[in-house]
Amino acid sequence: MSEKYNAALGAYELIAKGKEPLILGIGTGSTADQFTEHFLPKLRKRINEVFSSSDRTTNLLKNLGFRVSDYDPEVGLDFYVDGADEVDENLNLIKGGGGAHTNEKKLAKIAESFICIVDESKIVQTLGKFPLPIEIDINQNDKVLFELKKYSKTILRRELLSDNNNYIYDLHDFKISDPKKIETEILSITGVVDVGIFAINKPQIVIVGENSSYRLIES
Ligand code: 5RP
Repeated sequence: MSEKYNAALGAYELIAKGKEPLILGIGTGSTADQFTEHFLPKLRKRINEVFSSSDRTTNLLKNLGFRVSDYDPEVGLDFYVDGADEVDENLNLIKGGGGAHTNEKKLAKIAESFICIVDESKIVQTLGKFPLPIEIDINQNDKVLFELKKYSKTILRRELLSDNNNYIYDLHDFKISDPKKIETEILSITGVVDVGIFAINKPQIVIVGENSSYRLIES
């Protein structure tokens, strides 16, 4: 089985030994899909509610016969399961390769436990080789771009809008040695909807899929 499958298996085994009924949040991307397709159906009878981080994940969940609840900041998730583009040694993440980081972060924030599932290639020493995604209010684009130029000389806009109908930009060649500080700074720019650094709401546990097993990194 693939590393991504084994990471998803790790999340399943962790959740399966916990309490029930379960309220779960599901992330976006090929690793989160492994969890959804292979393991979520096994938990079906124990699940009370499922929340989704993107239109793409909602479609997958509905195809598998799950009813998807509307986001409610008052509801606490037992677990939020999602992938990442990069994970550093302190469990800070870059997310948003799939453009869903704003809605992913909303679910990570309301989860008692955020389980991040990745393959070995996502583990880095310092965040920033992967371009940093930032969602920007479409009406405040120019002002925000001016502010972001101090972080990167190469800022590229994606063709597709986010699920929230905003622009998504990627900041290239930006080494992030203090993720929490940079996350806070970028979030304070008027017009930034959210940034793909998960340092304020980082996972409690990262499950790294290996060739025939998985290993856990806990905070
Ligand atoms: C989507 C994300 C994904 O978790 C991230 O891009 C990793 O994706 P994959 O599991 O396909 O490598 O943040 O917005």
